[in-house]
Amino acid sequence: MKKLISSMALLTLGVLAVSFQQDKALLKESIARGKEVYGMYCQNCHMEDGKGQEGVFPPLAKSDFMQKPIAELINVVLKGQTGAITVNGVSFNNIMPAQDYLTSEQIADILNYTRNSWGNRLKGMVTPEQVNHLRE
Ligand code: HEC
Repeated sequence: MKKLISSMALLTLGVLAVSFQQDKALLKESIARGKEVYGMYCQNCHMEDGKGQEGVFPPLAKSDFMQKPIAELINVVLKGQTGAITVNGVSFNNIMPAQDYLTSEQIADILNYTRNSWGNRLKGMVTPEQVNHLRE
């Protein structure tokens, strides 16, 4: 009996380890796709290095705003962002147009890329389902 329990525990651990590895692989693939899409739709304003442009476009690199809950980041991309905001202690008051023409997968990929680039290392993975959920 003891042996059975311990081999079942080992099996469970094994399954957990495999699914953890799969999640990591999925995240890696999403980040790679996100880099491409970022280059097409975000880089013009936020720049290739994610540092934005002084006084005009806020940085995504090491941005305190990027640490907000995933839903808030999805909303910025889906609905745009206007009005005064402060990013890393610097205020911006400009207009980011809604990027809702992007597919939910593209938005999830872009955010996985920005949340894991230029010194950002944020826990959790953004999924297309989360984006779908916030579309109106
Ligand atoms: C036309 C220029 C433009 C494009 C394209 C653009 N943004 Fe923005 N973004 C802005 C501006 C301007 C703000 C700040 C708006 C304000 O002052 O309220 C902003 C704010 C943000 C913020 C919140 C503040 C921060 O710095 O963390 C995030 C996150 C963000 N953008 C992500 C993206 C992503 C991802 C894309 C690509 C899908 C994108 N943006 C495309 C101009 C742009």
